[in-house]
Amino acid sequence: MRGTESSNKMWGGRFAEGPSAIMREINASIPFDKALWRQDIAASKAHVAMLGAQGIVSTGDMDVISAGLDQVAAEYEAQGVPENWDLEDIHMTTESRLAELIGPAAGRLHTARSRNDQVATDFRLWVRDAIDQADAGLAALQRALVMRAGEHADSIMPGFTHLQTAQPVTLGHHLMAYYEMVRRDRSRFADARARMNECPLGSAALAGTGFPIDRKATAAALGFDGPTANSLDAVSDRDFALDYLQAAAQCSLHLSRLAEEFIIWASQPFSFVALPDALSTGSSIMPQKKNPDAAELVRGHAGRIVGCLTSLMVTMKGLPLAYSKDMQDDKPPVFEAAGLLGLSIAAMTGMVADSAFRTERMRQAAELGYATATDLADWLVREADIPFREAHHITGAAVKLAEQQGVALDALSLEQLKAIDARVDERVFNALSVDASVASRASHGGTAPDQVRLRVAEAMAALEGESL
Ligand code: ARG
Repeated sequence: MRGTESSNKMWGGRFAEGPSAIMREINASIPFDKALWRQDIAASKAHVAMLGAQGIVSTGDMDVISAGLDQVAAEYEAQGVPENWDLEDIHMTTESRLAELIGPAAGRLHTARSRNDQVATDFRLWVRDAIDQADAGLAALQRALVMRAGEHADSIMPGFTHLQTAQPVTLGHHLMAYYEMVRRDRSRFADARARMNECPLGSAALAGTGFPIDRKATAAALGFDGPTANSLDAVSDRDFALDYLQAAAQCSLHLSRLAEEFIIWASQPFSFVALPDALSTGSSIMPQKKNPDAAELVRGHAGRIVGCLTSLMVTMKGLPLAYSKDMQDDKPPVFEAAGLLGLSIAAMTGMVADSAFRTERMRQAAELGYATATDLADWLVREADIPFREAHHITGAAVKLAEQQGVALDALSLEQLKAIDARVDERVFNALSVDASVASRASHGGTAPDQVRLRVAEAMAALEGESL
C-alpha cells in the first residue's frame, strides 16, 4: 500500500517504515564488503592472538575466539556470507555470528580496536592480494609477448606514425614495445605494494588505544613490514587503494592500446592477423563476420577502470581527518577495477598467445607502402653526398613513379631511378628492400632482427630469473 503515515508519498512505496529503512539501506556495505571476509577473519585472528599474548584477554578466551573465527570462515566458505543490512558490514556480520557460536566471549574480540582500523587493515590486505594477482597475470602476458616476439624477430611489417606507413619494422619489435609497457606496469604495482605494506591495526578509532597492545606482532602476523606511524593517518588513509587504481588505470591504457592494434590488424583491409576463435564472436545477421569483441571490451574496460580511479579520488578529496563514512565508498571502485583488469589481462594474454599473424600480408603492406623511402633519401645523403632536403625531394619523385606503376620502390629499374637523378647507382638496391631497411636499424633498441633477438633473450632471462 502506498503513502502510509510513516513512508514518504513520493518514494516511500517500497519502504515499510520511514527514514530508518532508508538509513539501513544506505548504511549497509555488506552487499559489497563481504568480499573482504577472508582478510577480516585473518586480521581478527592476528588481533586476538596478540590480545592473548599480551594478557589483555585470557588464553582461554583467545582459543575459543580463534576457533570460533575458524568456524565462521568455514561457514562463509561453504555457504557464502549472509547479507543482513542490520549488521551493516562484514565486521559486524562476523562478530555477530561469532557471538551466536561462542557466546559472550565474542565480545572481547573488539577490545583495543575499532572498525576504523579494522577496515583499513582488511582493505590493505585485499589490495595487496589484488596487486599480487595483477602481477602474476602481467608476467604471463609478458611471457606470451616475448614468445611471439622471438618467433617474429624477422617478420617485417609496416611501422606507423599517424597510422600512416612510416618505416618497416619487425613484428617482434612491435610486440616487444608492449613488453616494455607491461614491465613498467609491474614496477608501478610493485612500488604500490612496497609503499602500502604497513599495518594500521591498533590505530583503533583514530587516536590509538590505552591497552598494552603489540602492534609489531600483529603487523608481522599479517605479513606487513611494520605498523603505521600515525593513528590518524592510518585510519583515514586510502592512498594504497589510489596507488593501486593508478597503476591499474595506466596498465589498462596499455591493454587498451594493444587491443586497438589487434582490432585494426584484424579488420579486412589490414588482414594482418586472424584472432583466436575463442576470443571472437560472430554476428547474428552477417554470416561472414568474426568480431573482435574481446579486444573491444578490453578497450572499453579501460574507460571504466579510469572511472574507478576518478571515483575514489573524488571521494577522498576534501575529507578532514580522520575516518568519515564517505570512505565506505572506497571499495566498489577498487573491486570493480580489479575484476575488469584481471579479465582484460587474461583476454590480451590469450590474444597474443593464440593469434595467427599473417606475415606475408604484413610484409606486402610494408613494401607497397613505400616504407623504405627514408632509406633511399638516407642513401642519397650518405653515398652521393646530396643534402637531405634535396634527397627528400628526389625520393618523393621516385615514390610517385612507383605509385603510378603500382610497384614497390625496389621494383623500379636502375634506368628509371637514374632518370630521376643521375647520381643513383646500382648499390641503391641494397638499401631499398624492406629487409635491408630493418637490418640497418641496428642501434640499441632499434628494429633490426639481431637487436630484437637480443632484447627477447634479455627479457626471457629476466622472466626466468623471477620464476626461480
Ligand atoms: N563499513 C565501514 C567502512 O567500510 C567500516 C567502518 C565503519 N566505521 C564507523 N565508524 N562507522 O568504511
